[in-house]
Amino acid sequence: MINHSLPSVQADDEWSPLRSVIVGRAGRACFPNAPTAMIEATMPSHHVHNFKPRRPFDQKLITKAEAELDYFAAMLQAEGVQVYRPPAGVNWLDVNGYTGAMPRDGLMSVQNTLIEACFAWSCRNHEIEIAYGTILGELARDSRVTIIRRPPYTLADSLLDEDGSKSSPWVINNSRPAFDTADFMRFGKTILGQLSHVTNQAGVEYVQRSLPAGYKIEILEVNDPHAMHIDATILPLREGLLVYNPQKVTEEALLKHEVLANWDLRPYPFTPKEPEDPVLYMTSPYLSLNALVLDGKRVVVEASDQQTAKWYESLGMKCITCPFRHVNSIGGSFHCATVDLVRDSTVKH
Ligand code: ARG
Repeated sequence: MINHSLPSVQADDEWSPLRSVIVGRAGRACFPNAPTAMIEATMPSHHVHNFKPRRPFDQKLITKAEAELDYFAAMLQAEGVQVYRPPAGVNWLDVNGYTGAMPRDGLMSVQNTLIEACFAWSCRNHEIEIAYGTILGELARDSRVTIIRRPPYTLADSLLDEDGSKSSPWVINNSRPAFDTADFMRFGKTILGQLSHVTNQAGVEYVQRSLPAGYKIEILEVNDPHAMHIDATILPLREGLLVYNPQKVTEEALLKHEVLANWDLRPYPFTPKEPEDPVLYMTSPYLSLNALVLDGKRVVVEASDQQTAKWYESLGMKCITCPFRHVNSIGGSFHCATVDLVRDSTVKH
């Protein structure tokens, strides 16, 4: 049942009961056209050669990915979740863009505020307006909600130093705010984030300034030379239980954050392999950690990933399975493909 008394945006964490969500659509998705240095820094090295300007993903792959996204959306609706979808059939080739399948990268809800990313990759500059502009307009009709659109000064094309020099581990400099919203995870009033090849310090400060009063960002120390998006590194399954990728973050680093004190922290126990068909053009095989939690008891996992499902069940979760391998191939899994807009949060406002 949809609770009409809830604002159109109100979510503080990753696990409280999900009431309303955006589920992306692939459209005519293309390999993102970012400068080679940005692609090399973030993408699996054996797939870098595929990233050619204006190269669409294979149409058969897209058709299957769309079917998976539709099935996933229908499944969420059947669970009583209100689902928003972007328009069908966007031709990203025409606009030199990437896809509308990964809304998590570009939108984040914190309490009643929805924040648009200041993407580092210019091929994503128009993604939010094209795919989600209508949805944002609809959400904005609720006067209790604040939507923070990307300001023009953050479009400055200055993130790569011309002489190719780097003064940090990251490919981008700090000349203007840059961040993807998928570099942040909400744990109530504390948000854990990471610096990455798409998120700089100015971006973190911009997000901090945009947050409702009382919310704060803490930067998690990760060991990920290719860092881009934190949502295959840590995943809170419910309040008090977090699973993490031990290749990328240590228990010690997690415990530096007071919000995780007394949490049960579980390292992901498997070494997943990249599937042969379809391949993972844009991510590591740790997408099992890129799951969507429905309510702290149930989690959506990829249908073929039985070992992860069994493990999550051993941790007391119920798994709902959904085929998603073709969506995985173009950039992410259930967490990437969604933006939770409303969760019945336990945080007191
Ligand atoms: N960079 C992560 C990895 O390769 C994948 C994160 C995908 N997340 C996303 N929101 N698109 O493991």
